[in-house]
Amino acid sequence: MSDSTRNVSADAADGFASRYGREPLGLWSAPGRVNLIGEHTDYNDGFVFPLAIDRRTVVALALRDDGVARVASSFSDDTVEVALADLSPAVLSGWSAYPFGVAWALGQHGADLDALPGFDAYFDSDVPVGAGLSSSAAIESAIGMALNDVWNLDFDRRTLARVGQLAENKAVGAPTGIMDQSASLLGERDAAVFLDCRSLDAEVIPLGFEPAGLELVIIDTNVSHSHATGGYAERRASCEAGAAALHVRSLRDLTVDDLERAEAVLDDVTLRRVRHVVTENARVLDAVRTLREDGPRAIGELLDASHVSMRDDFEISVPELDLAVSTAQRNGALGARMTGGGFGGAAIAVVPSHLVAQLSESVRDAFAAAGYTAPDIFSVQPSEGARAEPSA
Ligand code: GLA
Repeated sequence: MSDSTRNVSADAADGFASRYGREPLGLWSAPGRVNLIGEHTDYNDGFVFPLAIDRRTVVALALRDDGVARVASSFSDDTVEVALADLSPAVLSGWSAYPFGVAWALGQHGADLDALPGFDAYFDSDVPVGAGLSSSAAIESAIGMALNDVWNLDFDRRTLARVGQLAENKAVGAPTGIMDQSASLLGERDAAVFLDCRSLDAEVIPLGFEPAGLELVIIDTNVSHSHATGGYAERRASCEAGAAALHVRSLRDLTVDDLERAEAVLDDVTLRRVRHVVTENARVLDAVRTLREDGPRAIGELLDASHVSMRDDFEISVPELDLAVSTAQRNGALGARMTGGGFGGAAIAVVPSHLVAQLSESVRDAFAAAGYTAPDIFSVQPSEGARAEPSA
């Protein structure tokens, strides 16, 4: 499990100095995220309700006086180099496609890559990779913030979210939506971001977990996922096919009242995919209303219902996630669900603080009894989005 107590900023500054033999100009960071509710709704123009977490990726960066960009990180020995003028999705591969993809995507949004100075960048992070906590969006948002500052681009955070998504879609090749970058850039302490993925209108809504005696517990199953291939793209294609068959621009334009009509038109699998998205959008709106009117203890049932819909209708859960969720529910969680794209990764549970230790032990025991790899279980705090860090 990654260590949340180490000083990632100091380690990034040190890593930069030892890799490049000089001091960085500055440090910028961006957090991972968990999605409280609203899964696979973002690329359907729908609603999501994620939060930034207290696990961050830090980039230490300095400009160069030529047009060359270099990236390095604590998670690989490579230093990868490219001329800014040559950047295109075709020349990018491996992890460096994330930061270089952002530089390229800034160019697509108007930055003049032929004229701007190059840079050296070094990344360090305590966001677990492959856990569905958006380590990739944390990289994209951190480098996006850094380049926006040092290149004086003056893009706002919504534009930087689109830049990160473009990098992920075209440079990395994962057909993901706008949620992760938005959470990483727009998140605030003790709050979640209620985002309309069509208009990108975002409202930051206080969660009040701590005063209610609640913790947000992550159960990372250690079943690793990848969204560049397979199931994620297939689900997206089904949603688009469903919208086309029902003559709407996207599934956002349907409500639960349309499901009867959908039943008459769609095959069973497409119907279930559509039903998940339509009911999940309704659950997000319900969760935001319930949180406001009745407080955080009242949202549990909606989280539980979201998991059932992902397990049975959208079919993106795996046995490890189902076991994490059901064991958490039986051991005091007010609500639990898988979070993120699915096919592995993490589940979340909203848990009264005094039950966290017992619940964690029960989940570990259940995994051991099932013969599964031990999960990593830890609490996260809803945290501030991307920012410039004071020099370490
Ligand atoms: C991944 C993607 C997001 C979103 C979620 C599912 O995290 O990156 O855009 O689609 O899956 O809600």
